[in-house]
Amino acid sequence: MNNLEKLKQLKNLYLLKSLGFQYEDMPKIAKKREFALENDLDKLKQSVMKCSLCELSKYRKNIVFGEGNRDAKIMFIGEGPGAVEDEIGKPFVGRAGQLLTDMIHNVLGIKREEVYIANIVKCRPPNNRVPTESEAECCMPYLLKQMEIVNPTLVVALGATAYRYLTHDKTPISQVRGEILKLKDYTLIPTYHPSFLLRNPSAKKEAYLDLLKIKRFL
Ligand code: URA
Repeated sequence: MNNLEKLKQLKNLYLLKSLGFQYEDMPKIAKKREFALENDLDKLKQSVMKCSLCELSKYRKNIVFGEGNRDAKIMFIGEGPGAVEDEIGKPFVGRAGQLLTDMIHNVLGIKREEVYIANIVKCRPPNNRVPTESEAECCMPYLLKQMEIVNPTLVVALGATAYRYLTHDKTPISQVRGEILKLKDYTLIPTYHPSFLLRNPSAKKEAYLDLLKIKRFL
């Protein structure tokens, strides 16, 4: 800031003071270590329902916390709720969700209720845009806590966004899909997002191979 800008700012501050505004110290932000989340999915969901840490909270109709078997061996992680999910409050219940449900049922040979399904962000990004890095970062502690509580053997990252925000690796999903990777205490297998498969049906062959690998792993 140059001197002229500083003077202008000072003038504005004097003006505000003359109008009766008081100077306040910056609020003390809790240190990360002091910010403990609940070790219980229902209580954690209550916290998420009250969350307004990022701007996505302004637009949501419902939070989409995640759902499924609390002892699931496999956890699917998508990008973020779409319009139908926002309306209903459940993950993957639109067209992409139907495809995911079919993939779980027809290829893995298990019911959707046996797995756990969540997203990188719990509120719908406007116009289904990709969540920003700061939105993903705000929401990540909730997802990490869900993973810690459910403690799956295998995490499946659905699509580029889930893979990138879980691993901080920007390698294109087409290059990492189907690989068996390590993510902290979990095994991670990335694959294509069901919405991508709806737009690119020719990629379904590769997704099928990924699912067979997931099945063998389980
Ligand atoms: N796409 C996602 O990534 N998640 C959902 O829950 C629905 C669509």
